Amino acid sequence: MDSKHNSSTKHFLSLLDLHPDALRNLLARAIELKKSRNSGEIYEPLKNCTLGMIFEKASTRTRVSFEAGMTQLGGHAIFLSSRDTQLGRGEPIEDSARVLSRMVDGVIIRTFEQETVELFARYSQVPVINALTDLYHPCQLLADMQTYFEHRGDIAGRKVVWVGDGNNMCHSYVNAARQLDFQLDIACPEGYDPDPGILQGAADRCRIVRDPLEAAESADLVATDVWASMGQEGEQSERTRAFKNYQVDDALMERTGSDALFMHCLPAHRGEEVSASVIDGPRSVVWDEAENRLHAQKALLELLMSHKQA
Ligand code: CP
Ligand code: NVA
Repeated sequence: MDSKHNSSTKHFLSLLDLHPDALRNLLARAIELKKSRNSGEIYEPLKNCTLGMIFEKASTRTRVSFEAGMTQLGGHAIFLSSRDTQLGRGEPIEDSARVLSRMVDGVIIRTFEQETVELFARYSQVPVINALTDLYHPCQLLADMQTYFEHRGDIAGRKVVWVGDGNNMCHSYVNAARQLDFQLDIACPEGYDPDPGILQGAADRCRIVRDPLEAAESADLVATDVWASMGQEGEQSERTRAFKNYQVDDALMERTGSDALFMHCLPAHRGEEVSASVIDGPRSVVWDEAENRLHAQKALLELLMSHKQA
């Protein structure tokens, strides 16, 4: 029997994998870990631990924040590109999970299908973290929520507007609305709605509003993302046409509450989903948001991988 972890091994494949209280504790811990790092404190609960990082899509922030986070927690991270591993040559996910999880203490995966991370987790003895799939990007939401809490306090009862594609980021915002109790208006063009099943799970908190200006009315937070996600490059021109009225610009931000924040998971395309004046303007917190990937994921790694915490 493989005994490092048992069937109670905790994975983070979507925001719904954490109880709302655990999610709030994790966000509070992320804020603490950020302060501790900024005061120069050394904290190494993951000494001798290794994180395997499987990437089947490009990444800057996710890769660097997980790798730096592991170093700061006293551990080590290995970058595994599908181009250079047997996974990329067709070795079954189940076999890769069984082998890797006998060697490392945690695995993050960035891939296409959500089913891939679920299958990997089923065969893994160690915690598996979703580092983005076509369906969800839960790690990004940890950073976004930490950023909101730091700037404005609790997000419960606030109004958030998602502008643009009903994509992986939008789905994770829907789950965040459900877990942290905020209202989410989703402004997307017809044909680009979020998954109805995911929306159904948060039906009392989320609604689709076709007009982005109407959706933005009195919002506390505006978030957007690229019009064509990784894997959708071939749809770029048709998406540019479909989303042309869905740019977050000054006119849209003027409709929001006076202390509304702007977030974007990055990378951003100025002049497409967001104007330069907004992303580089006073309401934008995108650099804090990007930095918080590091702190929020350190809190997540500590929660899932540190045996002292278990
Ligand atoms: N926001 C985000 O996940 O960025 P990367 O694609 O650079 O990891
Ligand atoms: N929706 C984007 C997010 C990138 C961080 C994508 O999947 O490409």
